[in-house]
Amino acid sequence: MRSNLKSADNQFLHPWDDMNDLDRNERTFLVRGEGVYVYDDTGNRLLDAPAGMWCVNIGHGRQEMADAISEQVLKLAYNSPWALTSEPPALLAAKLAELAPGDINHVFFSTGGSTAIDTALRFVCFRNNLLGRPDKKHFISRVNGYHGSTYLASSCSGKAKDKKFVDLDDRHFHYIGDPNPLHRSAQQSVEEFCDQLVAELDDTIKTLGSDRVAAFVAEPILASGGVVVPPPGYLKRCAEICRRNDVLFIADEVVTAFGRLGHFFASEAVFGVVPDIITTAKGITSGYLPLGATLVSDRLLAGLDQTGSDHAIFANGYTCSGHPVACAAALKNIEIIEKENLLDHCREVAPYFQQKLLELLELDIVKDVRGMGLMACVECEQAVAKNGEGVAEIIDRECQALGLIVRPIYNMCVMSPPLTITRSEIDHLVEMLRDGIQRASQVVA
Ligand SMILES: Cc1ncc(COP(=O)(O)O)c(C=O)c1O
Repeated sequence: MRSNLKSADNQFLHPWDDMNDLDRNERTFLVRGEGVYVYDDTGNRLLDAPAGMWCVNIGHGRQEMADAISEQVLKLAYNSPWALTSEPPALLAAKLAELAPGDINHVFFSTGGSTAIDTALRFVCFRNNLLGRPDKKHFISRVNGYHGSTYLASSCSGKAKDKKFVDLDDRHFHYIGDPNPLHRSAQQSVEEFCDQLVAELDDTIKTLGSDRVAAFVAEPILASGGVVVPPPGYLKRCAEICRRNDVLFIADEVVTAFGRLGHFFASEAVFGVVPDIITTAKGITSGYLPLGATLVSDRLLAGLDQTGSDHAIFANGYTCSGHPVACAAALKNIEIIEKENLLDHCREVAPYFQQKLLELLELDIVKDVRGMGLMACVECEQAVAKNGEGVAEIIDRECQALGLIVRPIYNMCVMSPPLTITRSEIDHLVEMLRDGIQRASQVVA
């Protein structure tokens, strides 16, 4: 059974597959999940510290979600979102407008985070065309930012290793520094580092010309870039610079929304910023079904009916935009988060999670531990072990043997457990991670 499955899985080209290892991948087969745990095909129980891929916020195996999804499938599994509509996307759009900050009251639905970003960038360009400013098409994002893998979303992303062998739009995308305080120079204070980052955004807009820069795209906390928490005040100051220069601020909340930082959206609640556009996905359905959303402020839509253009059609959208079943799952997910006070729970356990992880700094190979809310990263000194393997991959393997999944990225283990995690599960997580790192240390040195 296992070997049949393994050879079948070799025909599944997984995201970020290394062509050198196509037939040699040894992935763990998962068969079920419950709460913060998933189970592999040999019966091992694994604590899912990354909650899948930053997404299973309400935890695995929820009967209410299964019921909501099956009810919607039986009621209406699909309708074209072009000329028709149905209850779930309408109710979800209204609910998102209620939860989103400021005048962000309209929603484009898509199929995930990449298409939510793609839609945001295309909408901004479309709007500038309509407003008669076709040159305002340049985007600024950050080194180590990750925004997805459509052509536009990957062009917007700033992770150097991901750019090596793929074609990208290198004419309209510009990258400013990663706001990781760890990367500041030895003489610099965090405040000076923040001043430098903010000045860099200002200078980049000035150099390109504010008549050419359409938007700044930023994750409030860089997720796949290694859970980078920017210096205090950074995001707010960046948003102010954008506003002063007529540059839109697009907050990529694909990871930080739906409770990860203790709020439905983090931009305003945590960072004091009301963006022009928010993109989100993942936790919107807790990963139970694929869904993305691009939330747009009323300001951006105002006046678009008076540009004098015939057929001012935004030719963007997907067969599954506003998919009734995915939207029903999102509504149930939000209901569960509200009913079970998961935002309060996250705010309550997050400081304990962060504090427990900080204890790992006493291990020799650990260089930095950082995070916010229920997002965290343990970064190791070394990226590659003496046997040539990635250090975080070795840690993940050792941890899996102990009953814990961590997401390895080069020298970093990133974690974002389900919001339901309890203090004793946090203790167990950190204990296994400590053991896993200690075991890995033998191989790394
Ligand atoms: C911040 C951010 N934006 C966008 C994306 C892309 O989302 P998706 O993989 O759902 O297309 C991701 C995925 O990890 C992400 O972390």
